[in-house]
Amino acid sequence: MRRAGGSPSSLDLLVSGRLYIGGSLVEAAVGVEDGKVVWVGKPSLAPPAEERIEAGDGVVVLPGMVDMHVHMRDLGESDKEDWFTGTLSALAGGVTFVADMPNNVPPMRSVEDLELKEAEAARKAVVDYGFYLGFPRDVGELARAAEFGVVGMKLYPRDLLEEALAAVLREAARLDLPVVVHAEDPLILRAAEAALTKDVVLHGKLRPPEAEAQAVRTLSYLAASLGFRLHVTHVSSLEALRAVAAAKAAAKVTADTAIHYLCLDEGAVGRLGGIAKVNPPLRSRRDVEALRLAIRSGLLDAVVTDHAPHRREEKLSEAYDAIPPGFPGLELCLPLLVTLIAEGALLLRALDLYSSAPARLLAVPKGEIAVGRDADLVLLNVRERWRVRGDELRSKAKYTPFEGFEVRGRVAKVFVRGTLAYDGGELLVEKGFGRRYSPARGEGGALG
Ligand code: DOR
Ligand code: ZN
Repeated sequence: MRRAGGSPSSLDLLVSGRLYIGGSLVEAAVGVEDGKVVWVGKPSLAPPAEERIEAGDGVVVLPGMVDMHVHMRDLGESDKEDWFTGTLSALAGGVTFVADMPNNVPPMRSVEDLELKEAEAARKAVVDYGFYLGFPRDVGELARAAEFGVVGMKLYPRDLLEEALAAVLREAARLDLPVVVHAEDPLILRAAEAALTKDVVLHGKLRPPEAEAQAVRTLSYLAASLGFRLHVTHVSSLEALRAVAAAKAAAKVTADTAIHYLCLDEGAVGRLGGIAKVNPPLRSRRDVEALRLAIRSGLLDAVVTDHAPHRREEKLSEAYDAIPPGFPGLELCLPLLVTLIAEGALLLRALDLYSSAPARLLAVPKGEIAVGRDADLVLLNVRERWRVRGDELRSKAKYTPFEGFEVRGRVAKVFVRGTLAYDGGELLVEKGFGRRYSPARGEGGALG
């Protein structure tokens, strides 16, 4: 459908109902043309459309969710997850864009590494995606990766000990590349491991909040002196939140937490053992409450899943070191957020932290029902309550620390770039439908 004289004569698609716009639910309609939102307004004023969908009673229309921290695995770890199962999981969770972490086998330290990933993702993904570079093979690789179009660079605790750290961060500043950090001080971790028995019930003590807070302080000192954009990911503790608050006063710093830190405490490790092992660890109730408050008050800028699938056998290992940290989250994050909102623990606008806010941080045209953005829309049945079952997940990891939780909100339909990709549990697009996005730098999207 073409435009005549600058105004749309007939839209490809019009979706009307209760739409999530500007932090609230409003009776409105969204018009789509060529995969983009071209019109938003009152349903009664809507232009004609070839196809019309009305979200009925109990259904809300949300923007596609944006997850800036996931692990799709694949390559040497396709037994844990691949780009098809991981992105199908995203679709089932109402997530239409994922930013994938670089701790792969092999690790993503160069553009050549990223091209290996690209080859798999391009064949299999059913939602859109971006890539992070890991600690680069050499400083020069950063400029090449920026040219390739990575959404940022990711640093892990051990990278803080790299000799080239300052040079790499200075280069990230020059390139205006976001630096996403897993903040846990490697020396404090080493000291805690030397002092304690390695037992999964001691996981929270083996990786104490002080390690997290210290790494936030170190990185924010570096951010303030070198001028790079620091984003602290999966903040888990009150101590680290305090360090983030101080860092924000001194430099351009943003931070997120993962959904599990908002819902679960360390008791889950006692109940579930290795299944609930994650880095950083689940914390105390006090930390859960502090994180919820940090979302309500605006201290935190995003929510992520840190979707980190592993094989069940590994998660059930006896030996502490043999249990890999992490678990899947993509199918559950939106319902868990909706449940927290329904319970009054978070405000409705917390949904921005899993949509428009990370889209802006990564400078991708998603996460918002607004003219010019991709027409990524989620029809969510908010009346439906359902019980989480690990064996029903689309992820290859068929377990979850949320087993048995009753959640609200079921994803009914998902449009990606105006195409109905998922309907009532069924996948309607081909493998390889997903596209890679490079950040649109200097177009008003950047981190800040
Ligand atoms: O729990 C985690 N899992 N934390 C990490 O830092 C890595 C991730 C993974 O890749 O499994
Ligand atoms: Zn991660």
